[in-house]
Amino acid sequence: MRLKKEESLKDLVTFKPNKLEPIHNWYWYKEGYSKGFVEVFLKRFKANSNSLVLDPFAGVGTTSLTCKEYGVPSVAFDVSPLTVLVSKVKTRDYDIEKLQEAVKEAGKWKFVKPDKIPKDKWLKRIFSKYALEDIVFYRAKIAEVKDEKIRDFLALALIDSAMKSSFAYKDGAFVRIVKKGVPPVKKVFKYKIHRMLKDLKKAELNPVPTKVEVGDARDIELEDESVDFVITSPPYLNKIEYTKIYKTEYALFFNQPETKLRAFVGSRVEDFGDMPPIAEAYFKDMTLVMKELYRVCKKDAKLAIVIGGGCFPEGVIEVDTKLANIAQDIGFKVDRILVARENWCTKKRVIKIGKMRESVVLLKKS
Ligand SMILES: C[S@@+](CC[C@H](N)C(=O)[O-])C[C@H]1O[C@@H](n2cnc3c(N)ncnc32)[C@H](O)[C@@H]1O
Repeated sequence: MRLKKEESLKDLVTFKPNKLEPIHNWYWYKEGYSKGFVEVFLKRFKANSNSLVLDPFAGVGTTSLTCKEYGVPSVAFDVSPLTVLVSKVKTRDYDIEKLQEAVKEAGKWKFVKPDKIPKDKWLKRIFSKYALEDIVFYRAKIAEVKDEKIRDFLALALIDSAMKSSFAYKDGAFVRIVKKGVPPVKKVFKYKIHRMLKDLKKAELNPVPTKVEVGDARDIELEDESVDFVITSPPYLNKIEYTKIYKTEYALFFNQPETKLRAFVGSRVEDFGDMPPIAEAYFKDMTLVMKELYRVCKKDAKLAIVIGGGCFPEGVIEVDTKLANIAQDIGFKVDRILVARENWCTKKRVIKIGKMRESVVLLKKS
């Protein structure tokens, strides 16, 4: 299998560069890649307004928004209602005048202390009483907004503002509590809605078909042979427990029990041979995903899939080559594997076990 180092992708496979990109930076998503990454592959694949790009693991819509910026139609799915909300708000076409009016109105909402605040122990640890009161007040005001696009726009602003006004610190796979001075939710929210509006006014994006829905990559709701290109990044093996990291957002804004979210790739633990059970379950699920991708891709479709190695106390599991083999068995041609970066896999945070690659697996449906 052809492995090639590609230094230029080192930062692009991370979310960091998005920090400086309007709209892309509306919600920080550590698990995402950057706009620059999608640009590289839209250009390499020569995508245009007649192509359809699929991202079956949409995250916060980096692929979808970049496609929209380039006038390329796209469709995307994610199992997480939180990230789908973020993606939708970032990629919708707005009536700017109407939105401007709504933002002005929301900026004038007069705070009224709510009768009740959540009793949840976790929420009480990561928010001050005042922050929780603000969140509950704004949440109720936003729920009254009739227009779905405006309601979602304000909801995203509130979710982000709440997290900025919390003591939560997302540290890898954990959320730590760091008691520090935080800005009031009211202030962050008002600033945020004005900034989001400003970004949209500047962006002047052309309407292009962009669909993002809740869906499972193991069962993609698309016709056979309908997709020209896939630019995506599945969850990394044994890396992120999404349900834990985003539990605050879910507890506050999505009336959804945690268990319902455990349909994530690799979360069905089964008993297998020589790999940790979680890795076996992961590759079983990824086989289902690759089969679905084969089904929905047109002949000659090209795919760029970012993936990282798995770190286990027993050693490193190479995911890029294993995924490429799975794809090949299904019928894809493996063009090459571009190695974007290498990280140490460690035990107890300090003992080095081995190096893990973060790579882009390039495939073609021949
Ligand atoms: C690595 S992130 C993708 C980030 C994205 N490229 C971005 O820039 O925002 C993987 C995503 O896959 C989603 N996911 C996990 N299991 C899934 C499944 N079975 N079907 C669809 N999405 C899934 C997670 O919710 C997460 O948002």
